[in-house]
Amino acid sequence: MKVTIDGQEIDVEPGTTILQAARLIGGESVPPAMCYYSKLKGSGGKCRCCLVEVSKGSEADPRPMPKLMASCVTGVMDGMEVKSISSPRVTEARKSVTEFLLMNHPLDCPVCDQAGECDLQNLSYNHGKELTRFHEEKRTFEPEDLGNNIQLHMNRCILCYRCVYTAEQLTDGRVHGVVGRGDHAQISTCVSAAIENEYSGNMIDVCPVGALTDKTFRFKSRVWFNKPFTAHRNCDKCCGKTTLWMFGNEIQRVTARKDEYHEVEEFICNECRFDHKDVKDWVIEGPRKFEKFSVINQNNYTRKLEPVQIHTEKQILKGREQDRKKISMVDVPVIDNTPKS
Ligand code: SF4
Ligand code: FES
Repeated sequence: MKVTIDGQEIDVEPGTTILQAARLIGGESVPPAMCYYSKLKGSGGKCRCCLVEVSKGSEADPRPMPKLMASCVTGVMDGMEVKSISSPRVTEARKSVTEFLLMNHPLDCPVCDQAGECDLQNLSYNHGKELTRFHEEKRTFEPEDLGNNIQLHMNRCILCYRCVYTAEQLTDGRVHGVVGRGDHAQISTCVSAAIENEYSGNMIDVCPVGALTDKTFRFKSRVWFNKPFTAHRNCDKCCGKTTLWMFGNEIQRVTARKDEYHEVEEFICNECRFDHKDVKDWVIEGPRKFEKFSVINQNNYTRKLEPVQIHTEKQILKGREQDRKKISMVDVPVIDNTPKS
């Protein structure tokens, strides 16, 4: 089947969705996706971030589709023509969806562990508005304990359902889900039962925002101060292929490896994720390659960067060797800008 997206034609198999076809083309035409996850059956169709304009339905019926379509759940037809980044209607709709998502989402990026690798942060960066029109009080929830490893911040949840599908499809007894409807809808375990399943940690990786975070990594470091390495170990429960987030020689966090769309390549078990924080447990293959454009890419240490010059008064940095070590700036020269008297 032939489909054209933003003027770029591609041949795809029947059953391919517009989003999948766009990902095969790549580049700026790929719609953002906050709820679709190619590894999770049934995902998509919740967030409306991936709206596109279908300007020609198919060769057989060339009429345009009157409404913008969610590309993650709309299958391509032969001869279909789609506008993504090239449509002003789509650009406007993405702005509106972003504004809706941010209505109840707290602006706590400075203290959120997901900052720097948050899909909503990236979406806001690309499609957000500078000002908010929402003056009402944001929706808030009581804290709920999900056990020793996973921290739930319901206030940040955008109800994408990814974690529910992960629990449904990877674990053998889902104990959490979306409870309530409309403004009251929330992720909950109903009876506050701990999520103890061996694969439950994957919910942290699929969560596009900071609603589910790793308790063993909580507030340890900003992600951009960590250096991610691709590593593996022999594991009898999962593939053992991970990314280690290192600070010096310390493993601060273990996650599954992610692709350019920020999706997990292969899910990992809780033992690899939470229990192996010793470098000796792993075979480190080398620095992780960044594919996706995101806030964290600003600190991509695998490409050559100009040395940073810090024009700070010497007194401010003097005597703070420990601080400089902590944020990996020990090799950054201090430029003495103090006025000479
Ligand atoms: S907790 Fe995260 S993964 Fe689960 S529904 Fe909310 S935003 Fe999605
Ligand atoms: S990614 Fe398509 S609706 Fe959410």
